[in-house]
Amino acid sequence: MEHISLSYEKALGSISQAQIEALQPEIEKAQAALENGTGKGNDFLGWLHLPSSITEAFLDEIITTAKGLRETCDAIVVAGIGGSYLGAKAVIEALNDSFGALKTKKGPSILFAGNNISEDYLAELMDLLKDKRFGIINISKSGTTTETALTFRLLKTQAEQQMGKAEAVKRIVAITDAAKGALRKLSTQEGYKTFVIPDNVGGRFSVLTPVGLLPIAAAGYDIKALVKGAVAMEEATGADKGLKENIAAQYAAVRQSLYRSGKKIEILVNYHPKLHYVSEWWKQLYGESEGKEGKGLFPASVDFTTDLHSMGQYIQEGERILLETVISVATPNKKVEFPHDEENLDGLNFLQGKRVDEVNKMAELGTQLAHVDGGVPNMRIVMPCLNEYYIGELIYFFERACGISGYLEGVNPFDQPGVEAYKKNMFALLEKPGYEAETKAIKARIAQ
Ligand code: PA5
Repeated sequence: MEHISLSYEKALGSISQAQIEALQPEIEKAQAALENGTGKGNDFLGWLHLPSSITEAFLDEIITTAKGLRETCDAIVVAGIGGSYLGAKAVIEALNDSFGALKTKKGPSILFAGNNISEDYLAELMDLLKDKRFGIINISKSGTTTETALTFRLLKTQAEQQMGKAEAVKRIVAITDAAKGALRKLSTQEGYKTFVIPDNVGGRFSVLTPVGLLPIAAAGYDIKALVKGAVAMEEATGADKGLKENIAAQYAAVRQSLYRSGKKIEILVNYHPKLHYVSEWWKQLYGESEGKEGKGLFPASVDFTTDLHSMGQYIQEGERILLETVISVATPNKKVEFPHDEENLDGLNFLQGKRVDEVNKMAELGTQLAHVDGGVPNMRIVMPCLNEYYIGELIYFFERACGISGYLEGVNPFDQPGVEAYKKNMFALLEKPGYEAETKAIKARIAQ
């Protein structure tokens, strides 16, 4: 069985192999801290051995629930934000047909909501769901996140009005804390089917819990293969695997060496639009884990070759604070060959008989060489193809590397104190009960 791989020789113009190897003791310390639960944020390490602890029976329960939704719904809305949505969105988009319209032939459309507060977005979603039998997978660990709770109230009301309460209840599944929070209380009272987000798994590490698994199964994808891939990567990146043989440790070591040598921004690059949301998920994973205490590589992303025509100039010649990590897919799932054209007015006959992917790969290689020449160190992750198994490997690879990398940086990679600041201000401005003092203070500040 092939596995995803990592190469970093194109980063070695900016840092040396010796610099990377010098991190071996820090890597071992970080791996031991993860394994023994002795590092910062050690109450959020439930993701570490999550893949290998998932049972067949548990996956079967999720698959049965997903099947029930697929059979009884024309559309399924997945409501959640941040860690409660990006993982599922990333996997589904990576596996789905690029043109959503074809999806509906295989089962209900999967729609995402609860990740913004745009009135137009919600109005248009509600319009789309008019007269449809729709289901809701409502995901919130805290059960109180405004974007998700607000969306759920609107959709629940619409579902009950359209289908009647009893039918709506059959199509609503809540994924939340085992005991705490408004969503748990509501679910118990209304009789929703529920799944639990484990206490010790933070949102951005939760894609392999029901948070990601139920929407992915509801979209018709093989969650057993996804978990199998993650298990393989859990084994391949464990604390018993040294830097030489451990791609998660290598990725952490290279990006931290580059950060220490002055690189400030890591750009995750893909050459397949389907991977756009893998980058969005990755940005949250690394941004929330490492961006704290005035430190951390800023995680950015581009979709190539599209963005070579917008961001290519900066990457090639702008400030030299960038590093690139490319996700390359070795073999596409579909095949398109260039036809011959007698007149050759577009001058493309030199591509005749070649696959489109060959052109894409040459664009990738040409870009890598140009960017390295321009002073942008480059790492490359190769996925043999886009399927559930390799996406499972990729997810765990990034999670493990994130834990190691965060400890190398010296922060707690498992908290996110900074995301509370906007919420406090928003609640004060909305005059939420309990925020009276903050409302007074913020009004005075605005009046100044
Ligand atoms: O990683 C995180 O903690 C956040 O992105 C949360 O997942 C996000 O804010 C959603 O929180 P909740 O699941 O409590 O609604």
